[in-house]
Parts: sequence; C-alpha cells; structure tokens
Amino acid sequence: MSPILTNRKEKRALAFSVSILFVGMICDWFVPLNGVFSVNALAAKNDKVTSKTLEKAFPHSNKCKRCHLRAYEEWETSAQSQSIETTAFRVTLDRFLKSVPDDQQNMCFQCHAPHILEYGHLGKRFIDEVKSRDPQIDGVGCSQCHLISEVDEGTRPPHPTFTLGKTIYGGYENAAKNLAHESQQLELYQKSQYCVTCHDSLPQSVSGGQLPDWLGTWKTSKAEKEGKTCQTCHMPEAFGESATGEGARRVANHSFPGRFGKVRATAVELELTTQVKGPQSEVEVTIQSLVPHNLPLSHPGWSRVNLDLTILGKNLNKVYGEKRFYERVYADKNEGQTVLDFHAVKILKDTLLQPEEKRVETFTFPTPPDAPSMDVIVTLSYSPVHGPDELLKAIEAAATLRRKDRAFQEVEIFRKKQNVPL
Ligand code: HEC
Ligand code: HEC
Ligand code: HEC
Ligand code: HEC
Ligand code: HEC
Repeated sequence: MSPILTNRKEKRALAFSVSILFVGMICDWFVPLNGVFSVNALAAKNDKVTSKTLEKAFPHSNKCKRCHLRAYEEWETSAQSQSIETTAFRVTLDRFLKSVPDDQQNMCFQCHAPHILEYGHLGKRFIDEVKSRDPQIDGVGCSQCHLISEVDEGTRPPHPTFTLGKTIYGGYENAAKNLAHESQQLELYQKSQYCVTCHDSLPQSVSGGQLPDWLGTWKTSKAEKEGKTCQTCHMPEAFGESATGEGARRVANHSFPGRFGKVRATAVELELTTQVKGPQSEVEVTIQSLVPHNLPLSHPGWSRVNLDLTILGKNLNKVYGEKRFYERVYADKNEGQTVLDFHAVKILKDTLLQPEEKRVETFTFPTPPDAPSMDVIVTLSYSPVHGPDELLKAIEAAATLRRKDRAFQEVEIFRKKQNVPL
C-alpha cells in the first residue's frame, strides 16, 4: 500500500476516535463501550499491520451463521457472497494482474474483498485464494460490511474505515445484548452513501481520472429525495427474528436482489404502440426507467441491457428482429475498443438509461405480407458477457459449467407482446 494512503488512513482514524470521544462526552451510556473501542481503533491503525490475524480481525461469515441464520442464508444466495468466486472475476483479475505493476495488484480487492485495505501485505494470498477457485476467505461477507465504521466521501471511489474491535455496527437502535459482540448503531447503515462506497467507480488512477462514475445522478433522483435509499430497494424490509431466539423486529433482506431476484419487476414501465402504414410498419416503444441510477451500471465493462424487437408473421414465423443496447463503449489507450473497463481511458459511446429517464425508441420494418395479423414482442434484458471471441473462449474454458456459467446467461427484465391485425 502506498505511504500516502497509510497516512490518510491514520489521520482519519484519529479524527474518528476524537469524534467518538465527543459522542462519549454527551452520552454517558456510550462511555465505557467507546472508551475501549476508540483505543482499539488507534492501536489497529498505528500498528499498520494489525497484530491480529486476518481471521481474528474479520471473522468468517460462518461464525455469524449460528445466531443469524436468516441473514446468512439470504446472503449465501447473493452476488456479494460470490464476489471472488465467479469465473468472470477470476479471468478478468488475471488479465488485470498481468497488465499492472506490483504495487497496483490489490486494486480489484478493495471492493471484491475489502479487508485487503487492512491486510495489503497479504495481497498474494488473496490472489492465490481466487486462483484456487475455492477461496477460504470471504469476499464481501458479514464482517467486511459490519466492521465499516466510517466512509470518506471525498475520494473516488469513497474509502471505508474499518474499526477492528469487538463492536459490530448496524442500523439498530438498542440491539439486544449478546455474548459474541457489542453492537453499535450508525446512521450510515441506512444511507445510500454506505452502499455507494463499493458501487461508485474504479479508482481514478486506473483511467487517468477520465471516466464518469457508474451510478450517475442518483443523489438528485426522485427516489433519493423521497427518502428511498439503496437499502429500501435492495435490502427490502421485513419483520422477523434478527438473531435466533430474540423477539421479532424490523429486519433487512440480505439476498441483495439486483440483476437477479425480485427487484427487477419494478425496474421499468414499458408501453408500445404499433402503426401499420401499408408496406411499412412502425413500433414505438416508450421505456420509463423507475431506477434512480444508471441502468445498467457500467461495471464490469461489458455490462449492458438490450431492447429486442421481434415480429412474428404468418404461422408465427419470425419475419423481423432488431436489438438496441444500453451500454458504455470504452476505448483503451491505443484507441482500440475494449470491454475491460480497467483498460479504458475514454468513452466512445454512452447509451445507458439515465436515472428515472423516459426513452422513446422507434423501429420501422416491412409489414409481413400474406398474414392475417402479426405479433409484436418487445423484451428488455441484461445481456450475457460479450466481447472479443478470445475473451469469451477464455471464460468458457475457465468455467466448470462451460457455456452454462452465469456469465453467459441472459436475464429478462420485462417483456410485452401485442397482436396487431393486418
Ligand atoms: C469500486 C469497487 C470495485 C472495484 C475497484 C472493482 N469492482 Fe468489480 N464489481 C464491483 C461491483 C459493485 C460489482 C457488481 C456490479 C453490478 O452488478 O452493478 C462488480 C462486478 C464485477 C464483475 C461481474 C460479476 C462477477 O463477479 O462476475 C466482474 C467480472 C468484476 N467486477 C471484475 C473486477 C475486476 C477484474 C476488478 C479489478 C480490475 C474489479 N472488478 C474492481 C465493484 C468493484
Ligand atoms: C453489503 C453489506 C452487507 C453484508 C455483506 C451484510 N450485511 Fe448485514 N446489514 C447491512 C446493512 C446496510 C444493514 C442495515 C439495514 C437497515 O437497517 O436498513 C444490515 C443489517 C443487519 C442486521 C440487522 C437487521 C437484520 O436483518 O437482522 C443483522 C443481524 C445483519 N445485518 C447481519 C449480517 C450477517 C450475519 C451477514 C453475513 C451473513 C451480513 N449481515 C452481511 C449490510 C450488510
Ligand atoms: C452468540 C450469538 C451471536 C453471534 C455469534 C453473532 N451475533 Fe450478531 N447479534 C446477536 C444478537 C442477539 C443481536 C441482537 C438482535 C436484536 O436486537 O434483535 C445481534 C445483533 C447484530 C447486528 C445488529 C447490530 C446493530 O446495532 O444494528 C448485526 C449487524 C450483527 N449482529 C452482525 C453479526 C455478525 C457480522 C456476526 C459474525 C461476525 C455476528 N453478528 C455474530 C447475536 C449474535
Ligand atoms: C464492501 C463493498 C460493498 C459494499 C459496502 C456494498 N456492495 Fe454491493 N456488491 C459488491 C460487489 C463486489 C458486488 C459484486 C459481486 C459479484 O457479482 O462479483 C456487489 C453486488 C451487489 C448487488 C448485485 C448486483 C447484481 O448484478 O445483481 C446488489 C443489488 C448490491 N451489491 C447492492 C448493494 C447495496 C444495497 C449495498 C448497501 C447496503 C451494497 N451493495 C454495499 C460490493 C459491495
Ligand atoms: C427505487 C428503487 C431503487 C433504489 C433506491 C436503488 N435501486 Fe438499484 N436497482 C433498482 C432496480 C429495479 C434494479 C434492477 C434493474 C433491472 O433488473 O432492470 C436495480 C439494479 C441495481 C443493481 C444491479 C446491477 C445493474 O447493473 O443494474 C445494482 C448493483 C444496484 N441497483 C445498486 C444500487 C445502489 C448502490 C443504490 C443506491 C445508490 C441503488 N441501487 C438504489 C432499484 C433501485
């Protein structure tokens, strides 16, 4: 890790401890707890390399399962629990490592396994764990999220501070006492900024500072202004036991629905009108995005959503098809097109659906001859991985499931069908 980063982190740790002492002064109840833990925080930072082992400082998610079975089982199905295990990650990490000097090799882990920020000297171990295909360390597990005590919004991407003590942070006021950990409520856990930490952008140093962020203008979206945070949509609220044997209270879903899962149903409103004008027909598709951030988010670099128009004519035969893509197309430093965003230095084309944007697409095509009617089918989906054949072959070869790997799956978001008499 660079010395500059370490210094900044030390300063932040100090500022944080001071602010905690202040809270301690105004609220007696916190004093004993915070007294201990601010000292811990400082000790951890000053040692640079924490004296605790990685496993002690960031307990594995298995350790939380015993008491938080529901959260654990939900998390286990989430993309976040796979953040250092997917084939696409393994293959692209390898390409990234081959293209950068030794002192930048930890970059991908700062979001995919953020405990690297405290254990930078173990970078080689993190890489070996990924290569093994069966990592024994978590990527984005319980501790990687619940030990975040502060986020610095001043850097891009934002920088989390971990406080490695006995305290687990969360959104609860008055969490019940337990023998495994202390609990502390932080407002941060119910704010979008908490999530944005890892969903903002690759470090500016990668692109030379040229590329826009992934989410777009989420801060000024209608949803955010109405108080709908990332958590509202992606950690939907329920009522139940938070820890085994405790009374039911407000809980948050930990399966993080996104590309997969239920949240998709509320992504867009889609309308279509068809006009037959003799030998030519015209379909107008109006897409109202209800998503308060770009759709899709533009990482990994090949990420895109496709709008597909299919026309079925006589005997339901396909007579016309057209696809349009919502994506960012990147160029690398040699001006060549690339789907690897860590090689990108500029954007050639940006057709992402902007936050809450309404987009109208018009298609014209020959009216099917000799048919009593035609079917107009419009589908919006997340595209599978795309790019040079060589990259697709590499991913396929590295995947246990070959072409059945998740990376090659198309995921439908919305579909509408209309029968138009001719
Ligand atoms: C700033 C945080 C951040 C950094 C740095 C980062 N990623 Fe990601 N990555 C994410 C997030 C968040 C997602 C989920 C994206 C989504 O679905 O919108 C993701 C998704 C992915 C995916 C697709 C899902 C999967 O696992 O197959 C790949 C591949 C990937 N990242 C590779 C990389 C590689 C390689 C690097 C380093 C060059 C990297 N990432 C650096 C945050 C990051
Ligand atoms: C990506 C970050 C993230 C990960 C990973 C994560 N959590 Fe959470 N967790 C949160 C946030 C944010 C909240 C607060 C949600 C709120 O109050 O609206 C929360 C709330 C909780 C709560 C209290 C509410 C409830 O649903 O019971 C518990 C307990 C909890 N998490 C345990 C866990 C455990 C155990 C794991 C691992 C299996 C885990 N978390 C993984 C971010 C995360
Ligand atoms: C011995 C049982 C036990 C173990 C093990 C355990 N917890 Fe808890 N945890 C609890 C209890 C009990 C609560 C309080 C729940 C309530 O108030 O309803 C709690 C509360 C929480 C909260 C909410 C805190 C807040 O202030 O919002 C989070 C987050 C959490 N635990 C995460 C974890 C994580 C992460 C691990 C693993 C590193 C873990 N827990 C291990 C019993 C346990
Ligand atoms: C410590 C970094 C980190 C934090 C904090 C974090 N995420 Fe993530 N998130 C990731 C990574 C990395 C992935 C991609 C995992 C993969 O597919 O490889 C991801 C994936 C997701 C996905 C699934 C994306 C998809 O394509 O389906 C959703 C949804 C999501 N995160 C929402 C959230 C929300 C909501 C929060 C805040 C409560 C949050 N994240 C906080 C790192 C983080
Ligand atoms: C009003 C609800 C809402 C809010 C608030 C919201 N999202 Fe989403 N988000 C969605 C929907 C709906 C989708 C799924 C889009 C789809 O399937 O077409 C989505 C998709 C995603 C995905 C999946 C990957 C992708 O490329 O589409 C990630 C990651 C994500 N959101 C992160 C975030 C983060 C981080 C925030 C907070 C800044 C946030 N979301 C706020 C509704 C929301």
